[in-house]
Amino acid sequence: MFMNFHDFFALVEPLGIDSAGRERWHGGWGQSQESFPGQGVYFLQEDFVNELAELSGMQEDGLIALQQGARQIRESEMLSRFAWHCHWRLNLAAPEDGFFPSILPEPGMAIPGGNRHLFTLATLAPLPRLKKYYSVRGISRQVLCETLHDLQVWTEAGFQKTGQWVCLNNNWLHNHMIPNLFALGRLEFQFGQWHHSIQVYKKRQGDQLCFIPGGNQAVSADGFRLGNPGEQSAFMTVFHEENGQVTGNPANIAGTLERQPVCLDLKDWELYIKFGEPVLHLHIPAGAPLRKEDCQASLQRAWTFFPKYFPEFKFKAVCCTSWLLDPTLSGYLPASNLAAFQSLFHLYPIAEASGWQTMQRVFGDPDIEISKAPQKTTLQKIVKEHLMKGRFWHSGGAFLLPGESLG
Ligand SMILES: CC(C)(COP(=O)(O)OP(=O)(O)OC[C@H]1O[C@@H](n2cnc3c(N)ncnc32)[C@H](O)[C@@H]1OP(=O)(O)O)[C@@H](O)C(=O)NCCC(=O)NCCS
Repeated sequence: MFMNFHDFFALVEPLGIDSAGRERWHGGWGQSQESFPGQGVYFLQEDFVNELAELSGMQEDGLIALQQGARQIRESEMLSRFAWHCHWRLNLAAPEDGFFPSILPEPGMAIPGGNRHLFTLATLAPLPRLKKYYSVRGISRQVLCETLHDLQVWTEAGFQKTGQWVCLNNNWLHNHMIPNLFALGRLEFQFGQWHHSIQVYKKRQGDQLCFIPGGNQAVSADGFRLGNPGEQSAFMTVFHEENGQVTGNPANIAGTLERQPVCLDLKDWELYIKFGEPVLHLHIPAGAPLRKEDCQASLQRAWTFFPKYFPEFKFKAVCCTSWLLDPTLSGYLPASNLAAFQSLFHLYPIAEASGWQTMQRVFGDPDIEISKAPQKTTLQKIVKEHLMKGRFWHSGGAFLLPGESLG
């Protein structure tokens, strides 16, 4: 059957996509097809997929599924053209070619050819460019492998969620390809900026820090900045700066706010970090247990890696926001890896702290009805028990000065 590959709208039906997909994917079709390389789209070839698997430590089931996905696309000119289109929009289009915010499907959208591997392959298509980037900067293959291991982590997560070996979090893997994210052992580090609504003061002599939020914010009896529906306010924060002094509610060592304000003399304290200044965001991939020594080793590596390979990136802190940083977890499980992880950082309360991510990460579903939540692990039991008592969970923040070692 003759197909007019130059008219995207004629392909909507054969691709099996819906009106949302038509809206999402039609932009730039004419331009992307001008550079379509014919039968030999390099990132759909067996060798390319094998190399991805080797670098990421992908397990056999995942590799077989990805090879099958690539083959299905290779064997269809229409799907090959669509995969090329996604690659072009994501990785090749220049700003003057137009603005193409995302190639990736939203949940519920019909998938071209029913083949989700297509988005993973298009996302990872810049592998040759990435390898060159590492090589020009002198970054080792080991770091490349550690970083790309997230493909295995998210393929495993896809299997847990759908029963199929497929990576669904391709948006995330785009960071690895730009690249703006590197895994150094157990932890990942991403270039970023300080965007938190809390002031960080540092003692001019020594490294003591004090975290103080702005004024007029509702705080729970436990010292969290309210973020859960139904959570009651126990007090409001105060904040003022006058006559060289700052007064506000400080975070304590557990990362929750004190009801009693403190007064810092700016002769002794300085505002350490301003909104928008460079930081390294820390991420904790799923997978191996979160052993304290592994995290400490990762941080040690970061202290030498970034100044060596990215001397131009003068980061002022390593910071992280996560459900893992809820101090309530350490209260319940003081001897756990989770508690040990928290001890490595200065903890602070984030704005609108909620238990959404706790539910997502502990039960796999942020909206799960609590009576139906799985009860296999100690943590699942604790999370449920705490909620059943009418209490709440809260994500928290962590902060570390460059080179600092706590815990
Ligand atoms: C981070 C992570 C590796 C920590 O796991 P860990 O090292 O096993 O943690 P601990 O040893 O402190 O766990 C204590 C208990 O909590 C359980 N637990 C830990 N993380 C859990 C999770 N995400 N879901 C359910 N139970 C969990 C453990 O199984 C253990 O219970 P058990 O003794 O009955 O087996 C794990 O939570 C994980 O893989 N999370 C996904 C990634 C993530 O959340 N990243 C942060 C994103 S911001």
